[in-house]
Amino acid sequence: MSDTPGQKSPGTMSYSKWKSLKLPPDRRRVLSGVQPSGKLHLGNYFGAIRQHIASQDEDAERFIFIADYHSMTTVTDGAQRRALTLDVALDYLALGLDPAKTTFFRQSDVPEVHELAWMLACVTNTGLIEKAHSFKDKIAKGIEPSVGLFTYPILMASDILIYRSNWVPVGDDQVQHLELTRDMAGKFNRAYGEVFPLPQALLVEAGAKVPGTDGQKMSKSYGNTIDIFAEGKALKKSVMGIVTDSTPLEGAKDPTTCTIFALYQLFATQDETDALAAMYRAGGMGYGTAKSMLLEKIDERFGPARERRRELAGNLDYVEGVLRAGAARARAEAEITMGLARKAAGL
Ligand code: ADP
Ligand code: TRP
Repeated sequence: MSDTPGQKSPGTMSYSKWKSLKLPPDRRRVLSGVQPSGKLHLGNYFGAIRQHIASQDEDAERFIFIADYHSMTTVTDGAQRRALTLDVALDYLALGLDPAKTTFFRQSDVPEVHELAWMLACVTNTGLIEKAHSFKDKIAKGIEPSVGLFTYPILMASDILIYRSNWVPVGDDQVQHLELTRDMAGKFNRAYGEVFPLPQALLVEAGAKVPGTDGQKMSKSYGNTIDIFAEGKALKKSVMGIVTDSTPLEGAKDPTTCTIFALYQLFATQDETDALAAMYRAGGMGYGTAKSMLLEKIDERFGPARERRRELAGNLDYVEGVLRAGAARARAEAEITMGLARKAAGL
């Protein structure tokens, strides 16, 4: 297992390479999870959600779930969890997740995931889990060091293995969890027989680290986010708050070190990006102008999704129906795996 976040491992494939593969029928399942632990932001969008949604039409079978059990490591209010879970459901559906193409469900609607987590815990060395940097990172941020937070990678492995998933699109902060998952699957298979395929992480290159308004990695823990569904005054406030250097308006500016430019690039075409870079280098343009151009891009990209989100929020029965239908499909798959795992383990 690598000790460095994001270090390339045999269980990792770039998303662009993956797209060019012809997947055999038994290697088609793609699964990812998203924690309902706060408002989704541009980092989540470009680093995760976009891939979850955009690749629905490819020759693969998709599972996306809302990791509400996982959120218990940080969110300790039931009503808040329910609201955050609904938020993620609305966000994904508004952004284009098609429930006919993607099995979309709540983690807690498939409680068998805990039964498998126990089986996996019993083939996991404590030393391996102790190496997980996400635990250290989270306690460094002041999150309560509960046993649940410590064993989080085991539940995550169970999320993946219970659907016999082949590909897991994740940000590079999650690559180590995928390595742990492969380790657990391998150990289980060696002990009891081949039950689990070894899943691979699918890594996104573009937008791998979206900067926040202060130039650090965008993260809800740093208070530097631009939320996907922010609009109007609130959105303007976030964008205008992006920290820049103090080059005067008339001075030539360096696009490569500017956060506004880095964000603009994510939305713009190559020609538009080149044009803005030329404006930076020529001088005579203030950062305020670049911020307004970025704002326009954000509105353009997410405007239609905001409308859809409002409609969905007025039709919660439909949303609940989608999650329930997804859970029924997911649970049927989980039951198949559990049948194999129980039999193999002599239970
Ligand atoms: P946060 O840092 O806001 O708590 P999470 O850790 O919940 O975000 O991240 C959820 C998903 O979004 C992960 O797959 C992660 O890799 C991705 N992600 C989060 N922030 C960024 C970012 N700034 N750039 C790229 N991807 C990100
Ligand atoms: N740990 C992931 C995150 O914090 C969320 C997650 C839970 C997940 N289980 C998963 C992602 C299974 C992919 C597959 O972002």
